[in-house]
Amino acid sequence: MPLKGLFLDHLATRMAYAEKALSATGFDALVISSGQPFTYFADDQDAPFNTVPHFRHYCPLTGPHHVLVLKPGAKPMLVRYAPEDFWYEQLPLGSPFWAEGFDLVEAPSLDAVWEKVGQPKRAAYIGNETDRAAAAGLELNPASITAFLDWGRSYKTPYEIHCIEEATVTAALGHAAGRKAFLAGASELEIHYAFMEAVGCLEFELAFASIVAQNEKGATLHYENKRSFRGGNTLLLDCGARHLGYASDITRTTPAPSCDPRFKALVDGMEKNMLEICAAVRPHMPFGELHHFSHLKLAGLLKEHGLLDADPEEAVALGLTRPFYPHGLGHHLGIQVHDVAGKLAGPDGSIAPPPAGHPTLRTTRTTEPGHVITIEPGLYFIPMLLRPFRENEHKARFDWKLIDELSPNGGIRIEDDMLVTETGGRNLTRKHLPN
Ligand code: GLY
Ligand code: MN
Ligand code: MN
Repeated sequence: MPLKGLFLDHLATRMAYAEKALSATGFDALVISSGQPFTYFADDQDAPFNTVPHFRHYCPLTGPHHVLVLKPGAKPMLVRYAPEDFWYEQLPLGSPFWAEGFDLVEAPSLDAVWEKVGQPKRAAYIGNETDRAAAAGLELNPASITAFLDWGRSYKTPYEIHCIEEATVTAALGHAAGRKAFLAGASELEIHYAFMEAVGCLEFELAFASIVAQNEKGATLHYENKRSFRGGNTLLLDCGARHLGYASDITRTTPAPSCDPRFKALVDGMEKNMLEICAAVRPHMPFGELHHFSHLKLAGLLKEHGLLDADPEEAVALGLTRPFYPHGLGHHLGIQVHDVAGKLAGPDGSIAPPPAGHPTLRTTRTTEPGHVITIEPGLYFIPMLLRPFRENEHKARFDWKLIDELSPNGGIRIEDDMLVTETGGRNLTRKHLPN
């Protein structure tokens, strides 16, 4: 279906859901800001602007200070902030594919925007322009309706799935360029630029701060620096792009020809594990079960390669895989890279508890058709996590010499984006980035 049709269907779904949310939480209208920029303390500089995600869920319009007014049974009103300005560029609206979905009005100033919004009765407000919203008599960011809407955000419409897949297409181009630069001897900074050039965007337009880690830095999970040294043995590249406000989140680990072949064999083993975990994705499956499966697969790999002397069930039960793999298997993905509702048990805001033995999971939901999740198992050599095991009752289970020899290679993470379907999972990444 053409994009316009996909979007209009998405908007109709959203409006029907907003009506349910309003009636369940006792409101008659919903007002959502695209947001105001964050200004650094004691400064006149703003942080890069990031649209309020609830606004993005209804409307792809970018930029601050726009406002949506949603009322059951009425076409959504979009008040577009459109000042005349010679300091900053204000792009004309043009004829975007989504415009037909809205009753669109333009306002040349903030006062004019909020005049158009008016003072709707029994209205909930979502956003950070709280002084304006309070003055309009709106109830500010009520937790009840926010939770209800967050729950709805975890079920992606075909339009949203299209956007996320397009974001993986672009990120795949960036990953291919980043890997090529690495294999030609580039530095982390140069690889970062190669990724952005292929994606064709500015840094703040990426889905998140890129992780470009050579050698031991691969063991810092969210390493965001970019060093200028060249000639690494390994590259862990965790980068995503955006499409119409939706994110992708992809990781590849690449050994250079100079890499220790024992580490390269671990990368190959992780790739095999990763594809098996992806193939195990099913609807109606507690995410904690998949996470547990990923620990069992890792335990098998560590045993096979002589790093750990324990059978997989025993290794996981004793927590011996945890220092090698301290994060969750994945998270929901959508407008936010770590998308909302990964821990919700229902639209009322109740929380799904983590499974026993895995207390810090970002995702504790049961998979449902329409969820988009990342699958990102890891294997790292993190000195601070391994250190206690060098002295405790399990120390003889580890091959410390091998661990020390492989540690300068950092770590391995491989990450794809998966749609949960009625019958299994659809990998949104592999077809665009096969390895
Ligand atoms: N890019 C951060 C993550 O994979 O969660
Ligand atoms: Mn991720
Ligand atoms: Mn990632």
